[in-house]
Order: sequence, then C-alpha cells, then structure tokens
Amino acid sequence: MRAILVGFMGSGKTTVGHLLAAKIGVPYHDLDDIVVANAGKSIKQIFAEEGEAAFRQLEHQALEAAMDDDGILGTGGGTPIQPNNFEMLKQSDVPVVLLDVLPATIFNRLKDDTDRPLAKQLGLDGLVDLKGQRDRKYEQVSDFRVATDNLSPLEVVEAIRTHLFIQL
Ligand code: S3P
Repeated sequence: MRAILVGFMGSGKTTVGHLLAAKIGVPYHDLDDIVVANAGKSIKQIFAEEGEAAFRQLEHQALEAAMDDDGILGTGGGTPIQPNNFEMLKQSDVPVVLLDVLPATIFNRLKDDTDRPLAKQLGLDGLVDLKGQRDRKYEQVSDFRVATDNLSPLEVVEAIRTHLFIQL
C-alpha cells in the first residue's frame, strides 16, 4: 500500500481514499468492502448473525492479506483499535494517515445511516464516548493527522499529498 487511512466512522476515509487513489493513479481498497466480499454478507448481517468478535477476526484476516497490495487502503473505524491490527500498522513502513473529525460532525453524517451497527446501537452520547476511548490509539498508530471538519474531500486529499509528496 502507498498509504493507509484510519479514523472514526464518518471521518471520510472512503470518500477521501477514492479521490486520493484516483489522483495518484492507483487502486482504492476498502477494508469493509473486502470483509463483505469475503463473507458474502453485509457488515450488519455479520454483526447480527455472528457477533462483533467474528467480524473482528474477518477484518484482521482482510487487513493482513491487503497489506502487500498496491494502492490506498481505507480501514474501518475500529480496525486500528484491535491490538493485532495496531501492531501490524505500527510495524509496517506504509504511512498511516488519521482523518480526524469532531463528534458533532460525525453524528450529522451518521444519523440516518442504517448500515453501521455500532452507530445505531450507541447514539450520539455513545459515539462521543467511543471516540474518546479510541482517540489515543488513532493518534499513536498514525504518522500524521488531518483535521477534516472544515475541509472539502479534495482539500483533505491535497493535505495528505503535501505531507507525503515524496512517496506519492
Ligand atoms: C466500525 C466501523 C465501520 C465498520 C464496522 C465497525 C467501528 O467502518 O468497520 O461497522 O468499530 O468503528 P467505517 O469506519 O467505515 O464506518
């Protein structure tokens, strides 16, 4: 991979990842989509039928398999929080970019989303708590952070390219 995007649900990883990949002419890989394709069912179904632990196992296997592919990888919001994924991301030479976003922005983006089981279960207060619990890990695993609240997706892409201009 050329770069790996991490960040909370609704931080724009997928949108920015697609744009960044297109801009530099490499494929975009979305970890959630890989898990869904491998499992043959949606994330919502995996959580409902097999539970979160099973989802995390599938997610870890998908991350391990994707690391050597070329392109930009967008992870799931919980990916870098799992200790085995955290270690894998820390040890890799691939730059890890944190897309950060305020809780209020996240809630606005996710409130009508029916495909994110955690967001649905938790509500606004729960999302704020969960983000608070995760923020340190996001910071520790990433090489740099882009605060995206007041930036368009293209501006986020440019901020990433500016940081990584030598490699990308
Ligand atoms: C999750 C985030 C989701 C998806 C799953 C769990 C999380 O990915 O992997 O629903 O634990 O934060 P997005 O960040 O792409 O929504």
